[in-house]
Amino acid sequence: MTPRLAGKVALVTGAARGMGAATVRRFVAEGARVMIADISDDAGKALADELGEPAAYTHLDVSSESDWASAMEAVTSTFGALHVLVNNAGVLHFGSLVDTTLADYQRVISVNQVGTFLGMRTAVPALRAAGGGSIVNLSSVEGLAAAPMLTAYTASKFAIRGMTKVAALELGPDGIRVNSVHPGMIDTELISDAVGGHKLDLGPVGRKLALRRVGEPEDIANLVLFLASDESRYCTGAEFVADGGATATHALNVT
Ligand SMILES: NC(=O)c1ccc[n+]([C@@H]2O[C@H](COP(=O)([O-])OP(=O)(O)OC[C@H]3O[C@@H](n4cnc5c(N)ncnc54)[C@H](O)[C@@H]3O)[C@@H](O)[C@H]2O)c1
Repeated sequence: MTPRLAGKVALVTGAARGMGAATVRRFVAEGARVMIADISDDAGKALADELGEPAAYTHLDVSSESDWASAMEAVTSTFGALHVLVNNAGVLHFGSLVDTTLADYQRVISVNQVGTFLGMRTAVPALRAAGGGSIVNLSSVEGLAAAPMLTAYTASKFAIRGMTKVAALELGPDGIRVNSVHPGMIDTELISDAVGGHKLDLGPVGRKLALRRVGEPEDIANLVLFLASDESRYCTGAEFVADGGATATHALNVT
């Protein structure tokens, strides 16, 4: 059987660990060549070394316009084209509205929201040159509904959901599809980093969900793979949820 991403070149941001790294592994297994982009250089290089020829690493702070220009140059000069962009890099900040400083707010918006904007904008010429492609933007269930203590994160993830649709409308005629992915709680270091570095027991959260567990990075990588591949050729401007059933209910559920 032909690999699902045969002949495709992808750039994945925030790809040194977590869902980004799981996505890179899945893409390479399905025949893609992948530029791993992150600010975590040692982990990113180690992943590229492990995967060998179909993978390479470039330093990319997604909030930096000049870093984006360099990363786009790196992917097209290394692999000759770009067909898939995964805007996955993200940071989380817990804090009540009144305790969220302007610096906290701006840090989250710079990475999650501005990073996604810059990524899409910078990739368009290469995607057009390739005759079309797929952009996958990592939003969250926090881009669909709200939870306390997440003002900055929620603002950034709603923004990603919205700008995904605008980009889909503008870029559809060029054969460029743009979709947002909305994971529920996934067991990565994003959450432990946001609470000061210690590992939280996510079991109680998992037991509240229809599927009775929190997600694993591979649960999201499989969805991103579908959206990156031509199997999703009629999907654009849409929201793809993988949350174990978290958003199937509402606050009036008493069970
Ligand atoms: N883990 C969850 O429960 C969850 C749920 C919904 C959505 N998400 C979203 O999924 C995406 C991936 O999350 P994860 O859980 O794998 O996180 P993670 O913390 O494990 O990995 C994030 C990666 O992004 C990188 N990064 C951070 N700032 C960056 C920057 N300025 N430029 C480039 N790279 C940067 C980090 O170095 C890290 O390698 C994020 O956008 C996150 O908001 C996560």
